[in-house]
Amino acid sequence: MEKLRLPIYESLRSISKKLKGSFHALPIQNIKNSRDVILSPGFVKALEQTKNLELSITGPFFDSLTDPSSFIDESCSLLKNIYSSDSSLLVSCGSSIANKIAIEALCNTHDKVICQNGVHQSIYFSLKSSNINVNYIDDIACKSDIGVTGADANSIIENLKQAEESGTPYSVLIVNSQTYDGICFDFKLFLEAVCQIAPNLEKIILDEAWGAWSAFDPLMKETSAIHNARIFSDAYNKNIVVIHSLHKTLFTFRQASLINFYGNSEYADRLIGSHFRNHTTSPSYPILCSSELAIFHANEFGKEYSERSRKLVDKVRNFINENLSGFEIEENKTNSKYLTTDPTKLWITCKSHLFNGEKIREHLFNNYGIYISRYFKNSFLLNFHYGVNDEIVEHLINSLLLMDRRIHTKNEKLDLSIGDVSESFFILYPPGIPVLKPGQRVCENALSKINQSLFDNTSLLVVDGN
Ligand SMILES: Cc1ncc(COP(=O)(O)O)c(C=O)c1O
Repeated sequence: MEKLRLPIYESLRSISKKLKGSFHALPIQNIKNSRDVILSPGFVKALEQTKNLELSITGPFFDSLTDPSSFIDESCSLLKNIYSSDSSLLVSCGSSIANKIAIEALCNTHDKVICQNGVHQSIYFSLKSSNINVNYIDDIACKSDIGVTGADANSIIENLKQAEESGTPYSVLIVNSQTYDGICFDFKLFLEAVCQIAPNLEKIILDEAWGAWSAFDPLMKETSAIHNARIFSDAYNKNIVVIHSLHKTLFTFRQASLINFYGNSEYADRLIGSHFRNHTTSPSYPILCSSELAIFHANEFGKEYSERSRKLVDKVRNFINENLSGFEIEENKTNSKYLTTDPTKLWITCKSHLFNGEKIREHLFNNYGIYISRYFKNSFLLNFHYGVNDEIVEHLINSLLLMDRRIHTKNEKLDLSIGDVSESFFILYPPGIPVLKPGQRVCENALSKINQSLFDNTSLLVVDGN
């Protein structure tokens, strides 16, 4: 009988076998390899058990996510306490939908909306489908050598000010709280400036998808959306929604998202209506359970996770500075006093032209089972989420060390220029024919073949002798 082909299952199984650690997102991916990630003894077991709670059952035996009256209602009340919110809504179909829920609840066609350009696609699509007129404010470069941009906070404030002065004020502001690349708003300063300048601004949507962890970090909390939403909603009577993508940095299944709302009951009710209309009618109970579990876990251990992340970032930074000559750290920087940098993000640049970010990404995954997502030219980004621990960092450091050695050997051997006389055989495999032989003068054609081989799948053998 012909073997049944299951392309998705087979490919994900083989990737999962290979994956030793991810420096991207979804901390639960790293659990299988690194038990010491978890600080609470019963946590892994509880998380395992939530996988089995794939049930289809509602009231009166369980509850309804979008019209909760018992267990989900109780859980959301506990979340309200943790986040000091006026309402907290769980979402099991991702922050794309959470953004849509927020936009549909808070914005209508009469609104005048100002929005940072660097927001997630879901915000563009939701605003468009709701037929809302938006002034998008371009982001500006923070570090152009690694392609990092940030919000133009000053321009947003200036636009708000001018609109107030001309009698056509904005009613809604939407921004991306923390970018994947590591640029964050300092909402303590930014919201203060915004609220002072724009008394008519009624509603604010802060997409803090990458910053769920910062609610539990004593330092980042101070500048986070989640902490400042309460303060500025109370002080200036604003309606503020904060979206957290839980699975990106905490130990939940995906697509776990959380909407926290700070403001008046009219908009709280509108959020409930929008949650009902936009959420799937079949919420995933394992995702809801794991969200609850992960938030309580983070609430208890968040401080320790954050301290560990900072230590591990320093460990990688110091190791590279002290031991590797082929790599260097790119410190992120911001372009405004209203922005700050994310301490869990680290950019690394390869100094050699032999490896670009794309090659490094491939090499790290194929040879060491380390997954990274973002790269730009010769640089790549590490995200130290909750699932990144000593073991994984040690593995990364050793892998970088081996790559560093490789860069050196290759660099020395490949220190060739047109017109030099080769001292070695340079053989590309396939096909196994020498591009250069000892004694042969280096021509442009040979040099470009050799350089190219470093970036494609041909292997280059450099053999001394004659
Ligand atoms: C800033 C931001 N918001 C929202 C989302 C959407 O999250 P999800 O993929 O869970 O729908 C993302 C996804 O990466 C994001 O980066």
